[in-house]
Amino acid sequence: MITGHGKTAVAGPIHLDLSTGVMGNDPRVERTVKTVGQMKRVFLDEQARSEMDPAQVMYAMEYWKPVPDGTEAGLFFGNSTVFPGVIGEEYFMTRGHFHAKRDRAEFYSTASGTGMLVLMDEQRCATVQEMGAGSTHYIPGRIAHRVVNTGAVPLTFLACWPSDAGYDYAAIEEQGFSVRVLRRNGVPEVVVQL
Ligand SMILES: [Fe+2]
Repeated sequence: MITGHGKTAVAGPIHLDLSTGVMGNDPRVERTVKTVGQMKRVFLDEQARSEMDPAQVMYAMEYWKPVPDGTEAGLFFGNSTVFPGVIGEEYFMTRGHFHAKRDRAEFYSTASGTGMLVLMDEQRCATVQEMGAGSTHYIPGRIAHRVVNTGAVPLTFLACWPSDAGYDYAAIEEQGFSVRVLRRNGVPEVVVQL
């Protein structure tokens, strides 16, 4: 039912393919990629990373921000696709972050592919959750999060997060996560790295 007069402040819908998580060709959808060259010192084997093609895309993101960055009480929606691969014996993964506003939470929901969601609190206590089509993950505030593709195909997940959450990459750049996911004998192994 439509009531009242004049124009509302409600944005129209965007469309995404739920089987792949990929968003349609809508001008409101922003797109960005992270390349191997942008992942300096993120991986255990920095030497192996530096010898790879720096232009190779490690992960790609699409996001829809219906309100400006930093808006209190709004929401953003997006997806990330982490491509399959390893650097040394470490699977391709996202840099990972805490939210700048530490108490802000987030949902992740896997569309396709397989991997692991690495979660770590401010005391560096970590856990991992398996990701696969349909797996839906609640990431509480004050928890750093990173996604690792442990499969042979791209891993795509959807995300919904507060528009005032922001990103704090610095804490992770300085100390990294306390666990890493490595390919050992062809299978993923979670290794503690305090
Ligand atoms: Fe986040």
